[in-house]
Amino acid sequence: MENRSQWGTRLGFLLAAMGSAIGLGNIWRFPATAYENGGGAFFIPYLFALLTAGIPLLIMEYTIGHKYRGSAPRSLGRVSKGFEWIGWWQVLVSFVISTYYGAIIAWAIMYSYYSFGQAWGDDTTAFFMGDFLQMTDPGAFGGLVPTILIPLVIIWLFVLGILLAGVKKGIELANKIFIPLLAVLFLIIVIRAVTLPGAAQGLNEFFQPNWSEIMNGSVWVAAYGQIFFSLSIGFAIMITYSSYLHKKSDITNNAFITGFGNSSFELLAGIGVFGALGFMAQSTGQEFTEVVQDGVMLAFSVFPQIVNEMPVMSGLFGFLFFISLTLAGLSSLISISETYVAGIQEKFNVSRTASVLVGGGLAAVISIAYASQGGLVLLDTVDYFINNYGIALAGLFEVVAVAWFARGLKDLQNHANSVSDIQLGGWWRFCLGVITPIVLGSMMLQNIRNEVV
Ligand code: PFF
Ligand code: NA
Repeated sequence: MENRSQWGTRLGFLLAAMGSAIGLGNIWRFPATAYENGGGAFFIPYLFALLTAGIPLLIMEYTIGHKYRGSAPRSLGRVSKGFEWIGWWQVLVSFVISTYYGAIIAWAIMYSYYSFGQAWGDDTTAFFMGDFLQMTDPGAFGGLVPTILIPLVIIWLFVLGILLAGVKKGIELANKIFIPLLAVLFLIIVIRAVTLPGAAQGLNEFFQPNWSEIMNGSVWVAAYGQIFFSLSIGFAIMITYSSYLHKKSDITNNAFITGFGNSSFELLAGIGVFGALGFMAQSTGQEFTEVVQDGVMLAFSVFPQIVNEMPVMSGLFGFLFFISLTLAGLSSLISISETYVAGIQEKFNVSRTASVLVGGGLAAVISIAYASQGGLVLLDTVDYFINNYGIALAGLFEVVAVAWFARGLKDLQNHANSVSDIQLGGWWRFCLGVITPIVLGSMMLQNIRNEVV
C-alpha cells in the first residue's frame, strides 16, 4: 500500500473539517442572510437545505475521498476517467479564494490590535476605507500598503509552515488548537453581546418570522446557497481531507457531526451579531434596518462602531471579535490551500515540500495584489465571480457528473454503508440525483438572470 498521510485521530479530522467549514461565512454572511430572507422563517428552508443537500453532498465528498484516496482531481478521476477536470476546476476556484482570504485575515489581525486604542476613531467607515485601505488617494493607486502587507506576509509564512509540517503535525495540530479556542472566545463574545442593553430588540428582529417569505423561490435559493458555501462543499476541500481518513472511519456519522456543528456555530453567530446590532441601534438611536450590514462592512465598519459605543471593556470585546475572525479565517485558509498542495503533489509526483513552496508560494505572491491601494475593489470583483459562478458551477458539475454520468452513487452508497452506522438508502441518492442538481441549476439561472436585468 502507498503510505498516504493520515489523520492521527477521528477528532482531529472532525476539527479540521469543522475548521474549514466554520469561517467568515458563519460570522458575517449567515446572520444578515437569515434576516433578509424571512428572519425566523428562514430556518425552515435552511434546515431543509442542510438535510436534503448539505449533509448528503458532504457524505458524497467524504465517501469519494475515503474510497479513492486522492486529492479532488485524482479522486474524481478515479470515479470516472473524464471527471478529473472537475477536480481541477474546484482546485482553481480554491486557489483564487485563498489569495484574497489571506488579505481579509491580515485586516482582522490589524483590527484586533487597533481595538485596544480604538484607533479607528469616530468615523469607522472613513477610517477603514481611507486611512486603512487607502482607497481615497487616487494619485498613489496601486502602491502597497505596509500595514496590510506585513501581516499578510506573516500569515502566509505561518500557513506555509503548517502545510509543510504535514497533515498530522501541521493541519491537525493547528485545528486542535484553533477550533476549541475559537469556540471559547466566540462564546464569550456572544454572552457579552446578548447581555448588552438593547440586545433583546436585535434578537427579536433576527428571530421574528416573516412567513410569507417561505413561498418565495429566491429565499430557498439563498438557503441552499448559504449551506453550500458554509459547508465548503464543491471546493475540493472535503474530498482532500477525507482522503486522509483511516480505512475504518465512520463517514456518514462524521458528515452529520460536521454539518450540525457548522450550523450550530452559525446560529450562535447570528445571535451574537444581532444582539450587538440591537445594542448599537439603541445606543445610537438609529433605526434597526439602518444598522444591519453584512460582509466586510459588518466586520470593519459596524463592529468598530459597536466597540466605540460599549460602556466597559470595549477594547477587549473588539479584540476577541477580531481574533475570532482571524482564527476562523486561518483554519479555512489552511484547508483551501491544502487542495492545491495535494493536487500538485499527486499530479506531478513531487514532494509535499515542493508543492507547498510552489503552490502556496504562488498564492502568497498573488495575494500581495490585495495589499495595494484599491485592493478592496479587486477583492470585491473576484469574490463576486467566484461566488456567483465558480462555486455553484463546481458543485453542479460534481453532483451531475457523479450522480448522472458515472452511475457511481450506488457504489459510493455501498462504500459508505460498509464503514458507517447510519445506513444510506434511496433517499440519499434522490437528494443528490434530483434535488441538488435542480437547486444548483436554479441558482445558476437566477444569477444569470440578475446579470441581464
Ligand atoms: N466554509 C467557509 C465559511 O463558511 O466561511 C468558507 C470557505 C472556506 C469557503 C474555505 C471556501 C473555502 F475554500
Ligand atoms: Na461555514
